[in-house]
Amino acid sequence: MNKNIMDYETVALDQDGRGILIIDQTLLPGKTQIIRLETAGEIWDAIYLLKVRGAPAIGVTAAFGICVLARQIVEEYAKTDRAFGNEGEMEFADFYRKFTEQKNYLNSSRPTAVNLSWALNRMDRVCRQAHGEGKSVSRILEILEREAREIKEEDIRVCRAIGENGLRLVKPGDGILTHCNAGQLATCKYGTATAPIYLGQERGYHFRVFADETRPLLQGARLTSYELFSAGVDVTLICDNMSATVMRNGWVQAVFVGCDRVAANGDVANKIGTSVVATVARRYGVPFYVCAPTSTIDLATPTGAEIEIEQRPEEEVTQMWYKERMAPQGVKVFNPAFDVTDNELVTAIITERGIARAPYGESLRSL
Ligand code: MRU
Repeated sequence: MNKNIMDYETVALDQDGRGILIIDQTLLPGKTQIIRLETAGEIWDAIYLLKVRGAPAIGVTAAFGICVLARQIVEEYAKTDRAFGNEGEMEFADFYRKFTEQKNYLNSSRPTAVNLSWALNRMDRVCRQAHGEGKSVSRILEILEREAREIKEEDIRVCRAIGENGLRLVKPGDGILTHCNAGQLATCKYGTATAPIYLGQERGYHFRVFADETRPLLQGARLTSYELFSAGVDVTLICDNMSATVMRNGWVQAVFVGCDRVAANGDVANKIGTSVVATVARRYGVPFYVCAPTSTIDLATPTGAEIEIEQRPEEEVTQMWYKERMAPQGVKVFNPAFDVTDNELVTAIITERGIARAPYGESLRSL
């Protein structure tokens, strides 16, 4: 029997603990292929090339990734140093130096989603704490794996709680617009922006969802419309330049989007085009809700101006998805992957711990 895309795990640690299994999202919706990542280069590439993407899913991948690499560090030591007569366990200092190198390498794969560094720093803390408690390096490997699994389980609980909180803001039959993919494929289950939609569906809310296609990488068309459609949600795909039309027609009662980083003042970075949707939503009086786990809130970044925005290759705009290049050779291209939406356009930020509203400087801190 054909499996539905909703039956697959976005990210998992393989049974042997030596590889990560992901759905290669660059092939969706045409082909569902599970790939195994083992080396640091494979994990880095999978994140950079968006085979696995979405802030929470990147965080979980990085957490499993550093586990897999930590195990390799120890096994490599066993193969080489022991061959030179060094008996016994690897010294923590040697292990930690290599662990830190790999952690920094994974962290360099994408700059904007704070969940990546959040997950890696959490793994780093657990590693140092275990050493402080006198644990051996082999015991530390077990503790790292347990922590990474917990980060994944937590993501599922957190997304469900975001769904419960978001559902309080809409009514059965409402039209909801979303941008990019902040869905199950961007997390371990439910998604963030889609969590209220999936929970509503469990309870017979019959939402009508509009999914922006999301140029240039089409996460809305390839991923959001695919997963919602597969889950039986009433979803209509629109081009990015149609959101004003559907809002002007009165078809949208709320916008739900995900987020890659929330600054301390409530400015939010999300997929390029999100700020256009927020501006249009303000014009038509539609509430604009940002769904974000608290791991996406970065109180160390004061405003959106300090968020590093990833710039991506120009081919994504000029030729990807087309049979042939659709722009003159040599034309200048600007391709930021994310934009910042000013806090004043954000009606509320929905987290697992509650709903934050302006002034965000206070409400985010109190969460
Ligand atoms: O470049 P992507 O596909 O990783 O961008 C994803 C987004 O912008 C999502 O909205 C965000 O990461 C939140 S995912 C729950």
